[in-house]
Amino acid sequence: MVSRIDEDGRRAVNVSHNDAVSLPAGSEQALRQDNPRLVELQATYDGLDVAAAVHTQWRRSFLNKNLSLAWFRGDNAYVWQFRHLGHAVRLRMYLAMLDVLERDSLDLFDKVSEDGLFGAFTFEFGDRPPVSRDLLDSINEINYLNDQMGLASVKGLRVLDIGAGYGRLAHRMSTALPNLEAYDCIDGVATSTFLCEYYTRFRELPSSVRVVTLDQHETLGERYDVAVNIHSFSECSLDAIRWWLDRIAERDIEWLLIVPNTPDELRSTEIDGSMIPFRQDVLDRGYELVDDRPIHQADELRELIDLHDRFYLFRKIK
Ligand SMILES: C[S@@+](CC[C@H](N)C(=O)[O-])C[C@H]1O[C@@H](n2cnc3c(N)ncnc32)[C@H](O)[C@@H]1O
Repeated sequence: MVSRIDEDGRRAVNVSHNDAVSLPAGSEQALRQDNPRLVELQATYDGLDVAAAVHTQWRRSFLNKNLSLAWFRGDNAYVWQFRHLGHAVRLRMYLAMLDVLERDSLDLFDKVSEDGLFGAFTFEFGDRPPVSRDLLDSINEINYLNDQMGLASVKGLRVLDIGAGYGRLAHRMSTALPNLEAYDCIDGVATSTFLCEYYTRFRELPSSVRVVTLDQHETLGERYDVAVNIHSFSECSLDAIRWWLDRIAERDIEWLLIVPNTPDELRSTEIDGSMIPFRQDVLDRGYELVDDRPIHQADELRELIDLHDRFYLFRKIK
């Protein structure tokens, strides 16, 4: 394999998207770097004096290389769709689907669907509706949380999503869970907040879904049932992670789900490329690890899917 090394010493990957479904009318005009809302958010985030706004991975150069703004649901910095699966991607997606389907106790395959908009790669098998990585990951995460802490039966469910990306999980949870009272998305990267505002509006998500800008973090609720951090802390510095963990700890949040990029341990990304473990920082804030398992749980399928991400579920000690 020949791969290009970028100036940060990281292996550069090609961004790709699926243009089988055209962009919706008006989106190319809105999803531009010079959109006044994005310019405004960028200036606000650049001016903030908080650790969460200082980036080690999600810097401007990283975004320029890893994102095509209008095709934000392609294979890019937000949701990896191809690059981790290598060859036989269709086969591996099929196996991943079977694995997720096996645990779909909430019948989410009948409740959420994939239309391939904004560049998402979709896969069709037989006469089943199309699936995507966004769809499978979201169904898997919702079922997992339901199994562990009864997500779907919490009355007036309140969720905090830190590093929410373009709002993938907000879209899926608000579609699937009638008991959802509040879903707050927040992110340390202006482009992500911009896309999340755009996408949640585009999908016409209910008013229970809020996109909170980083400068307004103090307006986050005092209480959430669960905070989620999916592939986000792994892409932040330890300082930024600690800042977010302090925001969590000062609130009443019983459950905390972290999905790291490195399955063997929770690690940060530092400016020099080193990765510092931060599990102890979570424990120091009064949480205990109550469950830790691969996101694809059927052992024999996982080996073939070759995707080894893990759920780490923490619970606040009473
Ligand atoms: C791989 S994406 C995952 C997005 C989303 N959680 C999902 O699973 O679809 C990583 C996310 O971490 C966010 N992020 C990066 N640095 C951050 C920081 N310092 N604070 C909060 N979020 C950050 C990025 O903006 C991006 O939304």
